[in-house]
Amino acid sequence: MERPWHKSAIVYTVDVETFADGNGDGIGDFQGLAGKLDYLAGLNINCIWLQPFFPSPNRDHGYDIADYYTVDPRHGTLGDFVEFSQAARDRGIRVIADLVVNHTSIDHPWFQEARRDEKSKYRQYYVWSKDKPANADQGMVFPGKEKTTWTWDDCAKRYYYHRFYWHQPDLDTGNPAVRNEIDKIIKCWLQLGVSGFRVDALPFIITSKGPGKSGFGDCPEYLVAMRQCLSWHRGDAVFMGEANLPPEQVPMYFGEGDRVHVIFNFFVNQHFFLALARGDARPIVDAYAALPKIPEFCQWANFLRTHDELDLARLTDAERQEVFRAFGPEPNMQLYGRGIRRRLAPMLGNDRARIELAHSIMLTLPGTPVLRYGDEIGMGENLALEERDSIRTPMQWANTSNGGFSTAPAGRLVLPVIGGGEFGYEKVNVAAQQRDPESLLNWVEKMTRLRMRVPEFGAGSAAFLETSDPAVLAQCSTLGPSSVFAVHNLSARGVEVDVNLGRGVDGLFDLLTNREHEVRSPERHRFQLNPYGYLWLRSGGGNDT
Ligand code: GLC
Ligand code: CA
Repeated sequence: MERPWHKSAIVYTVDVETFADGNGDGIGDFQGLAGKLDYLAGLNINCIWLQPFFPSPNRDHGYDIADYYTVDPRHGTLGDFVEFSQAARDRGIRVIADLVVNHTSIDHPWFQEARRDEKSKYRQYYVWSKDKPANADQGMVFPGKEKTTWTWDDCAKRYYYHRFYWHQPDLDTGNPAVRNEIDKIIKCWLQLGVSGFRVDALPFIITSKGPGKSGFGDCPEYLVAMRQCLSWHRGDAVFMGEANLPPEQVPMYFGEGDRVHVIFNFFVNQHFFLALARGDARPIVDAYAALPKIPEFCQWANFLRTHDELDLARLTDAERQEVFRAFGPEPNMQLYGRGIRRRLAPMLGNDRARIELAHSIMLTLPGTPVLRYGDEIGMGENLALEERDSIRTPMQWANTSNGGFSTAPAGRLVLPVIGGGEFGYEKVNVAAQQRDPESLLNWVEKMTRLRMRVPEFGAGSAAFLETSDPAVLAQCSTLGPSSVFAVHNLSARGVEVDVNLGRGVDGLFDLLTNREHEVRSPERHRFQLNPYGYLWLRSGGGNDT
């Protein structure tokens, strides 16, 4: 049976600004990105999630939009976007755009008119209060950076509401006129060829806003309406929701499969890092057990790192401290009291075996894997930069000036390239890794190629299996008549482990080494795994197809 594409996709996240500079002005652009499509095709990804590329004063890396309907001139023209997305399509790569409609920039003409003219229809696009609400010092998404969620505007003579930075006023998404605008933005970019949207800050979009208001109001109906707008205009388009949810809220977002298609699995991500910190698989198994079963055509998105801090807010205080100790022990590595502002490779001590293990788990867990630019070559972070900029440095293409990102003088780059040391572009770059058959990049390419041939992992139904060693994560994924197994050793010691295969298995074929595993008992099998070792196996012996 045909599967919906989002259940067998591999997604790659790109920030146009820091990926590749095509015209040498120090800022990444669509021309530069288009020139890297063959690289991305080689990585076997089939969907690019583009972070915001719209006109913006850029106080929050484009998540502060001043115009929803075109491309920021710093990144090129609308024509460059279309040329890029067509070139992507020619390579079988879909494009997803960021839909940032919880808030605009204060520079957006809607806000400018709203603050100047209380009779303007745009006044009601935002959320105002004459007096500062009593709970104004609560609910900031960036605690430590922002002190309030209500900021005084001298022109409007009112306070305006903002969950994020002071310069990102929340749209009143309960206002039907705002909902119409959101529909129009969705339709516009669908018409320009995108296959869907990563919906930024989804829980805040659907929360009732205004002094004294709370809760989700009519959000189930609204999610259905938003989805209908999307699906009527393009049947295979998807919403990928950025929603860091407690398990009990998941059903509200997926509905009966009539709301969002995909949700980023922040809950599992945090427990995954706890599991890595402990060298114990159980936090991952328990996290999945806590999540509800999701509708057939819905999906989780699994990721290692995003462009934001590694948010650990869903762990208990003690668990969070464990992860901090293991992966971000210095105060400067931590952010907002809840997260770690580091890249994957340095967090894992640049230990190749552990980096492979992490990727292998992400590629096999039930869901769609989402990679982030730079992690495939093991890029590092720059903790001298502010907040999340530490992990947003330019892509390292080559051992040439500016790491091959741009021909501009270094001082004109949008963010400095990481140079020198273990993670500098001189050592860590695409060109060098392409030439080295043992490189991380070549390993990632091999694994993504294999993953594309094993749709059971993404689209199948998965069950975790009982093992004799808590360090080992063992999973069986089934699609129709066919089953695959993934076995991962999260610990730094070699293990010999018995796995309850849960079914009569008459043979196992090792997908990574192309060898048969002799199975003595159809129900149990003993595996040997190196420290941080992993296995991908197909049941029934025979060949991988
Ligand atoms: C999301 C983005 C983050 C941004 C925020 C405000 O959380 O991932 O980078 O700062 O929304 O739009
Ligand atoms: Ca440029």
